[in-house]
Amino acid sequence: MRVLGIETSCDETSAAVVDETGDAARPWLMRSNVIASQVPIHREWGGVVPELASRQHIRDICRVVERALDEAGATWGDLGAVAVTQGPGLVGSLLVGVSFAKAAAAAAALPLVAVHHLAGHIESLVLENGELPLPAVVLVVSGGHTSLYLVERAGHYQRLSRTRDDAAGEAYDKVAKLLGLGYPGGPVIDRLARDGNDRAVTLPTTRLTHADRNAPTLKGDLDFSFSGLKTAVLRYVRLREKEKGAVLLFAESEIADICASFQRVVVRALIDRTFAAARRHHARSIGIAGGVSANSRLREELKRHGDLREMPTFLPSLPLSTDNAAMIAAAGLRKFRAGMIADLDLNADAALPL
Ligand code: KG4
Ligand code: ZN
Repeated sequence: MRVLGIETSCDETSAAVVDETGDAARPWLMRSNVIASQVPIHREWGGVVPELASRQHIRDICRVVERALDEAGATWGDLGAVAVTQGPGLVGSLLVGVSFAKAAAAAAALPLVAVHHLAGHIESLVLENGELPLPAVVLVVSGGHTSLYLVERAGHYQRLSRTRDDAAGEAYDKVAKLLGLGYPGGPVIDRLARDGNDRAVTLPTTRLTHADRNAPTLKGDLDFSFSGLKTAVLRYVRLREKEKGAVLLFAESEIADICASFQRVVVRALIDRTFAAARRHHARSIGIAGGVSANSRLREELKRHGDLREMPTFLPSLPLSTDNAAMIAAAGLRKFRAGMIADLDLNADAALPL
């Protein structure tokens, strides 16, 4: 069976066609994955502007879907289902994808499958690597989320922890903004950090030991926190500006040092908690997915720590690490095979839980 996936939760309009292979170990094959990025539109404003995002999704959705079908050599008649991101995300953006998917499913008499965006990120690992050795611990780390999940059975995701404040990608974006490096911040900081000294600036690592009153079911000690780190960078920058008597007149090397020092602390927090969760839950594999999984240092450290502990580790390729519809089609196939079909009165849910 082939599935059309649609993803519009934030600032990428994406459509993809994914086929089933019939091989239980490597269940899916990506036939196309078209992404219309809105980054140039939002860059001017230093971040995603929700209203501009939803308007651009409306402009792009039809041609993106047509191109995804075209590149896959598929017609509406070849499809077995339409899968769409129901949430979480920006509600105006989500509504474009959900409305399009409902209309398409109704018109082509196809079943509709509602997908959680983070389930999509997790299944991006399976799409490219085949089924993970279970139980697996998966870190989903992006601009909107930093959460650890335990996957004991395929398609079942148990949340182990989350960030108490900013997501890691959000911290990257905010630190880049305060250093005047533009949007999105992750790729720029990643690149500049390569030439910096990661011990040049002393920055705090947050370790939480107390339970979160807002999520009493979670133990709390595997939670993340990045807002203090962002504030520490801000204070360092302001202090240096005062010393210099000038605003943002840093030498390139000093910017590189700040980026490298910030990145070292973020990556360490992500790797430490992920491996701690894997130990606690006797995981047989570890995955990292979501936009920040494109980070070069995070990728290196995951591999290094995995090799050291003889733990298989998995990452998506770079095109599948940021938002895309192929992962939504894959997660949709998983749900479809589990008999989970959505009704045509499906609504977008900006705060959909997983
Ligand atoms: O998954 P994604 O495309 O969208 C969300 O669901 O949020 O992730 C986007 C986030 C942005 O915050 C961006 O700065 C970050 O991923 N990102 C990176 C890198 N590439 C993208 N962060 C660190 N290093 C990178 N190389
Ligand atoms: Zn995402």
